[in-house]
Amino acid sequence: MTTSNKSSNTVWHHATVTRQRRAELNHHQSTLLWFTGLSGSGKSTLAHALEERLYQMGYHTSVLDGDNVRHGLCSDLGFSNEDRVENIRRISEVAKLFIEAGVIVLTAFISPFRADREKARNLVGKDFVEIYCHCPLSVCEERDVKGLYRRARNGEIKEFTGISSPYEEPNNPELVIDTSTKNIDECVDQILEDLIQRGVYERKHLV
Ligand SMILES: Nc1ncnc2c1ncn2[C@@H]1O[C@H](COP(=O)(O)OP(=O)(O)O)[C@@H](O)[C@H]1O
Ligand SMILES: [Mg+2]
Repeated sequence: MTTSNKSSNTVWHHATVTRQRRAELNHHQSTLLWFTGLSGSGKSTLAHALEERLYQMGYHTSVLDGDNVRHGLCSDLGFSNEDRVENIRRISEVAKLFIEAGVIVLTAFISPFRADREKARNLVGKDFVEIYCHCPLSVCEERDVKGLYRRARNGEIKEFTGISSPYEEPNNPELVIDTSTKNIDECVDQILEDLIQRGVYERKHLV
């Protein structure tokens, strides 16, 4: 494997416990489900509801949620262009490690810019499943789960996605989930069905 790094004295060490062997043990493949969408579109709700179902099937999962990573892994980063790119890079690299460890990773970041999501896709490769939580701005604003839209409208928050900063819709997401017309269970069922089609697990394991 060739990667760019600052040290010339590092050698990639290959594991004997391969991804495929882990998949056989776990009875499921690993992958990355990258939820994207406006604030309040349902990324966190769906990621956690889906994780609950996968857990009940005995599967290995991990949710990386926007605010949470900024408390730890990315606590040194702000919202400048440079920091945003670095934020996505770190999340993608962490997701890659989890994928190698046999885990189904669910990420819940607004990730409003196509170029950033494409970077993540390029880094992760074929395991990147982009899930667009589609929900009209008016519905997200009415939900206003964290009161952020109100504060953005008041000018208390600058560059808020959907209000004063753009959200670039995915051109070719693997999955579009309409969270304003379907309830949470229906959305989760749609994703679970898609994972079967993708070969992440077999239908007979669905509970
Ligand atoms: N089909 C649905 N999918 C996801 N969330 C939904 C759905 N219908 C209603 N909601 C509600 O919308 C809100 C979404 O908030 P949240 O998951 O925090 O959004 P995000 O993480 O995208 O900012 C929650 O209050 C949730 O209960
Ligand atoms: Mg969220």
